[in-house]
Formats: sequence, structure tokens, C-alpha cells
Amino acid sequence: MVGAGVIGLSCAWRAASAGFAVSVYDPAPGSGASHVAGGMLAPVTEAVPVEPEVFTLGAAALRRWPDFAAELATAGADPRLRTAGTLVVALDPGDRAELDRLAEQLSRMGHAVEALSGRQVRRIEPSLGPQVCRALSVPGEASVDNRALLDALLAACRGAGVEFHPQRCRHLPNADVVVVAAGAHSAALHPALHRAIRPVKGEILRLRCRPGTLAPPSRTIRAIVGGRHSYLVPRAGGRLVLGATQREVGFDTEVTAGAVRELLTDAERALPAIAEYTVEEAAAGLRPGSPDNLPVIGELEPGVLAATGHHRHGILLAPLTAEAVLALLRGVAGPVEVGPATPARLARSAP
Ligand code: GLY
Repeated sequence: MVGAGVIGLSCAWRAASAGFAVSVYDPAPGSGASHVAGGMLAPVTEAVPVEPEVFTLGAAALRRWPDFAAELATAGADPRLRTAGTLVVALDPGDRAELDRLAEQLSRMGHAVEALSGRQVRRIEPSLGPQVCRALSVPGEASVDNRALLDALLAACRGAGVEFHPQRCRHLPNADVVVVAAGAHSAALHPALHRAIRPVKGEILRLRCRPGTLAPPSRTIRAIVGGRHSYLVPRAGGRLVLGATQREVGFDTEVTAGAVRELLTDAERALPAIAEYTVEEAAAGLRPGSPDNLPVIGELEPGVLAATGHHRHGILLAPLTAEAVLALLRGVAGPVEVGPATPARLARSAP
């Protein structure tokens, strides 16, 4: 396994638990984009406007999350799954129109959503500010604590006998089967991925409420503010992950002042109390983007598999990707929803 982010670790854990001898190569297991993630399990609200194939994959992954989290809690530690759903909130008239379009699209797809007024949504989440004029409640979506998840996966991998090699691979290591799960760094590892996988920078802030301030919301809030999208994902202990920018600037993981300003300005309009919160951390990660926003899961050549290109959906898609990779290792059919993620499409769309 090359890469020990959420995808590499999930695949390694599932493969080792199934009896395969697994070695993982990564200079810093459990770091990178997975460490910076918001941790949303949000196939509906993460892919707006909704991309049908991305949505189908995400929905299939979300169905697997309760079992995945429960097994992980037994094998490693609790990844702190929260299942309270998502609220999408709008502030300006233009944002409200976008929210209405989203509601229409989702109901055409048969997805249950409930439209709420500003007053109604503040009854559910009192920390939302007076500028919030409309909201959509999206039940069924969830979140996990990404760092608790990574710790749990590392513990589960060690418990299942996975061997860790703390080194960056410049070439594929020798093994019967190699799985490329190196996130944004995957492109350098195989010619089929050269032009397909690119880094997409995301900056986040981690905040904590202080005594005397309003507690953070109890579920994920996605805010549309002046046409920009941001999210606030609660964590234990009065903490909140606030994200995220999306920039195509290569392998740059520095947090810019402009990003911090943008994130805080938008979030404070939705949740005024955060002005009094402590800023615990500002961080940037590199999402592995692909040309069509679908991951790349499947055989690149005999003995080399890809599990990469998960873009904004790595945490969500981890259980499904691990199941697909285990099926490939066993030579049996994997989940049908993973079909569109085949690496074969990259050759078809290459210039
Ligand atoms: N999935 C959250 C993000 O990529 O920002």
C-alpha cells in the first residue's frame, strides 16, 4: 500500500483483516489531507450542484458507514460518528435562490429535504445568526471526527498485523500487488495517473468555544454566503472545523491570510458567536482531484491497483473504496456503484 491517509489505511485494514500480508509505505501515516478534513459524510450537500455518479458512489458509501464505524470501534477506536444530518443555510436573496434550486433538484432526485424559515432553523440550532433567512434540512447525512478516525484506523491496522514503512516512495515498491493510495501525490507513481490526479488545496480553521459563548451547532452547517460555500462541522469538546477554500495552486500547503479572512467572514455571518471563539489551528491539505471528480479505483496494470482521486470525498468514500479494493485483491466482483470509477476511463478521455 503506498499512502497512509484515510483511503490507504482503510484498504490496508480491510486487506490485513481478510488475511493478506500488508505493508504500508508513507513518511507520516495519518497526516496529509485526511488530517485536515472536515469529516463530513455528506453525499447530497457536498456535491452541489449534484453530480449523479459522484452522488451514487457517496450514497453507497454512506450506507456502509454505520457498520464500518462500529467494526472500527471494536478493532481500533471510536471514530465518533454523528448522524444528526446537515442544515444548508442561506443569507442573501441570491443565496436563497440557490438554496431553492438545490431543494428542487434534490426533490426531483427523490431525496427528502425540508425547507425551513430563518426562525424555524434558529429553533433547531440557536447559535445561527439573524441573517440566516432560509435553510434546508437534509436528514441522513453524518460526520466523523477525522483525527479520531485516523487514530482508530492506525490502531486497527496495527492490530491486524499491517507493517508500516515510514518512507516516501518515488517508485512503486516490490510486492505481489501494489495499491496506489497516495492522494495528491499519486500522479508521480504511475503513468496512467500522470495527468489525471492533481492537488486541490483546501484551507480550514479549527475553533473552540470559550466559557460564556454560545455552544457550536450540534450538526453540520453548510452556509451559502454571497455565493460562496463554507461548512462548519462540530467536534466534541465545543470544537468546530470551519472550511474550506478550494484552490488550484500546486503542492502549496501554506495557509494564506486571505483564506483565513474569507473563512471567518462567511462563517461569522452564519454563526456570529464564533467571533468570541478561540482559533486553535489553521491548516491546509491537498485533495486529490481528478478530471471528472470521480475517484480512480481499479487495476492500472496487472499487479498495480489504484485507490486515489477521491477529491472532496475521501473520508466519505473510505468504506466503499476499501471494499472495492478487497474485492479486487480477492479477484471477485466488487460493489457495482464503483464501476464508473474505473481507471479505463482515463485512457478514453486522454487528449
Ligand atoms: N470534504 C470537504 C472538503 O473537501 O473541503
